[in-house]
Amino acid sequence: MITLGIETSCDETAVALLDNQEIINQGIASQENLHSLFGGVVPELASREHMRLLPLLIDSVFDRARMVMGDVDNVAVARGPGLLGSLLVGLGMAKGCVLSTGANLVGVNHLMAHLLVTETQERIRFPALGVLISGGHTQLYKMNSRFDLELIGRTLDDAMGEAFDKTAKLLNLPYPGGKYIDKLAGLAEPDKDLLPSPNLDNRNLDFSFSGIKTAISNFLKKNDLSLSKMDPEPDIENIALQNPDVAKLCASFNWSMAKTLYTKVKRALDKENDIQTIVMAGGVASNHFLREKMSQLAGEYSISLLLPSPSLCTDNAAMIAYTGFLLAKRGYVHDLSLEGIPRGKSIPWDYNNTT
Ligand code: KG4
Ligand code: ZN
Repeated sequence: MITLGIETSCDETAVALLDNQEIINQGIASQENLHSLFGGVVPELASREHMRLLPLLIDSVFDRARMVMGDVDNVAVARGPGLLGSLLVGLGMAKGCVLSTGANLVGVNHLMAHLLVTETQERIRFPALGVLISGGHTQLYKMNSRFDLELIGRTLDDAMGEAFDKTAKLLNLPYPGGKYIDKLAGLAEPDKDLLPSPNLDNRNLDFSFSGIKTAISNFLKKNDLSLSKMDPEPDIENIALQNPDVAKLCASFNWSMAKTLYTKVKRALDKENDIQTIVMAGGVASNHFLREKMSQLAGEYSISLLLPSPSLCTDNAAMIAYTGFLLAKRGYVHDLSLEGIPRGKSIPWDYNNTT
């Protein structure tokens, strides 16, 4: 079964071709450089870039795979949550492909796809604990099965990736700055008492990251550490050498974020005591220190930990194609009335079951 995956929910235009669960070919065009100048994603520009890049990317992925649109059985497309204008570009293209070929149309929940993509590397054993940490979301799921995800914890304000990106912005690092904080953190020792580890003084599984953002902002008002000018391609080793206090702040921030995540995930494991696997996914799951802390926790509980490779953590189309393939195999498909769902609205389970 050949599945074409299309992802345009935020600022990455991505296309992938799968033969069952095997990735045949994939391509991604990042808009990071465009949006970095504005310190965040500009929705209008993102949609226009998707419109320009998506047809070119589809052509090149089919060329490299030596395949044509007529070979495709399923067209899987991210249907939300995301920026509505961006989603509509992907949905329009997916509907066009389906109209011209008669392939199945499968709308895919972007969040579910982040969690399931690790299966292109290794099978998940259920029930699993899904730790979804991205630029837009911070959520804990009890994954009873592939399509039965129960939300058991979530952020009350900022997402984890947002906290990384806002901290990077305060330091004058380009958007999205999570990966720079991660690299700088690897070049210094943390001061474990410098920053608060947010929202731990309770018994719940929810997160809050607005406090740590304020703590960083207050710290930077008292200590003028921000880099004097923003370099679109920062030389991280040089920054760490010239500004050891910036690297230390990044290491301390990374440490506080990891402590929060470790504590909440440990609490979830104690509460749901039948978990077989932890799946950590989303862009922030490529963070080195968070991966290390999660491995330590999984070791303490003698359960397995599945971490997608870093390129499958950030937005990609292989995750959309794989989830679309699983859904289509079970007969879950959509008709051409499929709609995009913006961020903040829940994704309906509105498949036409053909089996
Ligand atoms: O999953 P993703 O690509 O997009 C969303 O669905 O939101 O996640 C993007 C987020 C950004 O906030 C980015 O700064 C963060 O993932 N990120 C990282 C790292 N790499 C990407 N955060 C911390 N450490 C990293 N190594
Ligand atoms: Zn994402």
